[in-house]
Amino acid sequence: MKLHNFNSGPSILPVSVLEEAANAIHNFNNTGLSILEIGHRTAAFGEVMDEARSSVKQLMQLSNEYEVLFLHGGATTQFMQVPMNLLDATDTAAYCINGIWGKKAAKEATFFGNVFTAADTTDCDHTCIRMPAQLPVDTKYLHITTNNTVEGTQWHQIPEVDVPLVADMSSDIFSRPMDYNRFACIYAGAQKNMGAAGVNLVVLRKDIVGKRKKGIPAIMDYQQHIAAGSLMNTPPVFSVYVSMLTLRWIIREGGLPEMERRNRAKTTLLYDTLNNHPLFTIRVSPESRSWMNAVFFLANPALEAPFLELCKEQGMIGVKGYRTVGGIRVSMYNALELSSVQAFCDLIHYFTEKNG
Ligand SMILES: Cc1ncc(COP(=O)(O)O)c(C=O)c1O
Repeated sequence: MKLHNFNSGPSILPVSVLEEAANAIHNFNNTGLSILEIGHRTAAFGEVMDEARSSVKQLMQLSNEYEVLFLHGGATTQFMQVPMNLLDATDTAAYCINGIWGKKAAKEATFFGNVFTAADTTDCDHTCIRMPAQLPVDTKYLHITTNNTVEGTQWHQIPEVDVPLVADMSSDIFSRPMDYNRFACIYAGAQKNMGAAGVNLVVLRKDIVGKRKKGIPAIMDYQQHIAAGSLMNTPPVFSVYVSMLTLRWIIREGGLPEMERRNRAKTTLLYDTLNNHPLFTIRVSPESRSWMNAVFFLANPALEAPFLELCKEQGMIGVKGYRTVGGIRVSMYNALELSSVQAFCDLIHYFTEKNG
């Protein structure tokens, strides 16, 4: 039976990336050594890092004002590392709280400075995106989460603000073209659209770093990572390699315009199918619906367990909603094929015929 991988992360990767990564575990670039065995300061790994960095710049069409880092840890590390680098204790940063990840990010920032809540959608269970309120003078940056993996919302319009914009793009990185030069800092854990867990992509506009008055530990310091070319200490070599392969795949397939075309096709198919099957209900407002993670419910909660059981029987992996939200969550990252979404939609239809 074909499995359809709708996991929210770690999640589906292109088959060719998995094959190349598996080969490299045995013999990396005909060196006779495994990618797990080579030194991070070798020329061979230097080429991997350089290609990963330049692919990010190419895909995002970044100007020369930007640096690209590959750092240890998940996005949660960045919840701390961003404010640690950008704030002094008396400074204020603004956060849009559109879901649990944005809320966690804001909480971490309180350890380093003042936090102004620029938007908070808790009152509607995070079923919509809300634009930021007027920011206090001297706000150091505004933080948004471009895609809310848990709640199934996404920013389809980037806010116009006159302070540096910082974005957690963990779950929609490289899913669509956008003016990435509007952001001062972009970060993402790799394990959804970019590769294997263990590495963070951090994109920084140079002018925002190095302004803080107090020193911070070297391993947390963006400036020192920039100076060391992401090689201050041993980087997560394999995870960087898988990211490089995935970025190469995205470029080969047609870049971000092609990712957007595929993601739009999948998302349109799924949401249209849900809209045509009243057994299912979507709480997220239409203009805020995520292309990456569709979150929805059975109108009759008693039908949820049988529907999930049917999904399991039919090889639909990872469709149970997040533990605090419930319902169903279908993640449709770049590598997921339209045929998997079609198979899921066929199941919706079949289930409706049986239970409608
Ligand atoms: C949008 C977003 N931010 C942050 C995180 C946390 O990432 P990590 O587990 O890599 O720390 C996640 C995890 O799913 C996420 O979806």
